[in-house]
Amino acid sequence: MKITVRPGGIAQTSSECIILGIYEGERSLEEPARVVDRASAGMLQEIMQSGDFKGERYRSFLLYQPREIAARRIMLVGLGKRKDCTLDKIRGAAAQGARAVRDLGLHELLMPATFARIPGVPPTGIIRALAEGVMLGLYAFDEFKTTNEGKKKNVIEAVTILVENAQELQAARDAARKAEIIARAVQVVRDLVSRPANSATPAFMARTAKTIAKTSGLVCTVLSPSQAKKLGMGCFLGVAQGSREPAQFIVLEYVPAKAQHADTIVLVGKAITFDSGGISLKPARGMERMKDDMSGGAAVLGIMQAAAQLKIPLRVIGIVPATENLPGGAALKPGDVITSLSGKTVEIITTDAEGRLILADALAYAQRYKPHAIIDLATLTGACITALGNDVAGVMGTDEQLINKIKEAAAATSEKVWQLPLWEEYSELLKSDIADIKNAAGRDAGAITGGCFLKAFTGKTPWVHVDIAGPAWTEKDRPYLPKGATGFGVRLIINLLENWKKKGYIKGEKVNR
Ligand code: BES
Ligand code: MN
Ligand code: ZN
Repeated sequence: MKITVRPGGIAQTSSECIILGIYEGERSLEEPARVVDRASAGMLQEIMQSGDFKGERYRSFLLYQPREIAARRIMLVGLGKRKDCTLDKIRGAAAQGARAVRDLGLHELLMPATFARIPGVPPTGIIRALAEGVMLGLYAFDEFKTTNEGKKKNVIEAVTILVENAQELQAARDAARKAEIIARAVQVVRDLVSRPANSATPAFMARTAKTIAKTSGLVCTVLSPSQAKKLGMGCFLGVAQGSREPAQFIVLEYVPAKAQHADTIVLVGKAITFDSGGISLKPARGMERMKDDMSGGAAVLGIMQAAAQLKIPLRVIGIVPATENLPGGAALKPGDVITSLSGKTVEIITTDAEGRLILADALAYAQRYKPHAIIDLATLTGACITALGNDVAGVMGTDEQLINKIKEAAAATSEKVWQLPLWEEYSELLKSDIADIKNAAGRDAGAITGGCFLKAFTGKTPWVHVDIAGPAWTEKDRPYLPKGATGFGVRLIINLLENWKKKGYIKGEKVNR
């Protein structure tokens, strides 16, 4: 799909279908809708007064062949009440409109840049939301369908965003291009996470990382199991030893121009390509979902691609330890003690707490880059879903400023996060009788004790852990989050990197609006 931004009037530009945003319950129409209304002899007003379509959020309504309008059709999409309208709703409305146009079997659509307005949000902000909404909403994964009925055969090939004011054209094009880069990165992540585990193996993750490196200008290094062994990655290899698939320790590096002055950020992503639980086997029911246990690693690959393409002025390192967690004959057993890259010994209480083991070595490895910050993304605990539900990620870490930056990025992108504490009392729960630390405490505060375990391997570097077990996957189909893999984390972390040097505006309790 291609997104083009060009100048022109809404009534004069020909298209298969215009998508128009409509606020709920308003007598006077917004500018693009008013133009359409006038050119169609008041048809829009008539429809709204009849009550057939009132602008209810995400409802759509098709108008056919309006007189004196160059476009063949108009798809009205409800934005809901103006006072409740946010960028996220605009993203959703654009997605919903585009999906309705696709379902008509059309291949092309047009949207005005003035689709909706939010006080304080510049036109470029709206354009980003429109472009993201359309691309994310139209996503489908049908690589493994072999019949036409199975595939979403209708495809939108061309999207045009119309800008009235030619002076704003360049800024509008830049905004759309950025949105395209970010949405494409989200698509890469969704593709990886959707892909079944017999195809998305650790080796596949490594190949994907190499392809991304080649096409986006990154340096990619993959450590083999024997290299990892020489370094002493006992935790990472401990998890891998129950599987026949060779583990892959993937490192991507992005070096910006003027690298001497750039801060270094390390991103770490959990990539368990399938989590059976190992010897501490998970129940069979729902286990197929555990192909998504590499969502953090996939997000890091997508973020690295977007960071390079956006030329973010930071040195960004992506570390993705990739392995399966299977109960083979050589697998780790409860009670085993293994030695991590940091030198700390770990007693295995359950082999199902494997994510924190591979992350322990990745976090220790991250120190080699002397980073200003380490951020990890991981589908770490079911307990985080119990605490916060399916739509919200848990954040916890050792640096309030860094946590606040994440909260700001979350507020800006609607990739929601909520902070959990890492008080010492929780770390006490991980004391082992035989080793330096154990990999699981009881059921209580499971998301937090997971975070506490990771904290033990972060040294003095400011670090934040984002537990994405909930939001990495959605069972509900939503406008720009089709059912399945969401690609959570890409928009969040890219926003954070884009605003890295900006002064924070969140103080005290005023967070997560
Ligand atoms: N990958 C799981 C966490 C998970 C569970 C993600 C459900 C998404 C949905 C992780 O490896 C795991 O098994 N965690 C255990 C930790 C426990 C054994 C300490 C959990 O959450 O039960
Ligand atoms: Mn597990
Ligand atoms: Zn796991």
